[in-house]
Amino acid sequence: MEVGIHIGLSTTKIYGLATFYDQFRFVLPGKIKISVCHGTSCFMNGSQAIIDKFREELKVSPGQTTRDGSFSIDVVSCMGGCYHGPVLMVNGEYHIHVRPGELSDLIKKLKYIIGTE
Ligand code: FES
Repeated sequence: MEVGIHIGLSTTKIYGLATFYDQFRFVLPGKIKISVCHGTSCFMNGSQAIIDKFREELKVSPGQTTRDGSFSIDVVSCMGGCYHGPVLMVNGEYHIHVRPGELSDLIKKLKYIIGTE
């Protein structure tokens, strides 16, 4: 509302703008921010299985943050590493040729790093 007043737009228009772009969030991201590429190349190389595995392991869907605030998952269109898909980004670090079977160990490692395991 304050933004709307400041720039002279209604709250409805501000909300419409904020919900149109994926980059705007209404909840705080997790300590560990994971982006899964779901662009065409990564999709063809199995990114859906990566998304499903994160959903299973962390009990969150893309766009959500775990209840304890440790992890947030996003799905993005392309990270520019199509040849190396599926591609993940974890707090700014790229992971390439990711396989679903690797994710349990990755999550354990990340939990250890942030001190939740
Ligand atoms: S489609 Fe995934 S990096 Fe381009």
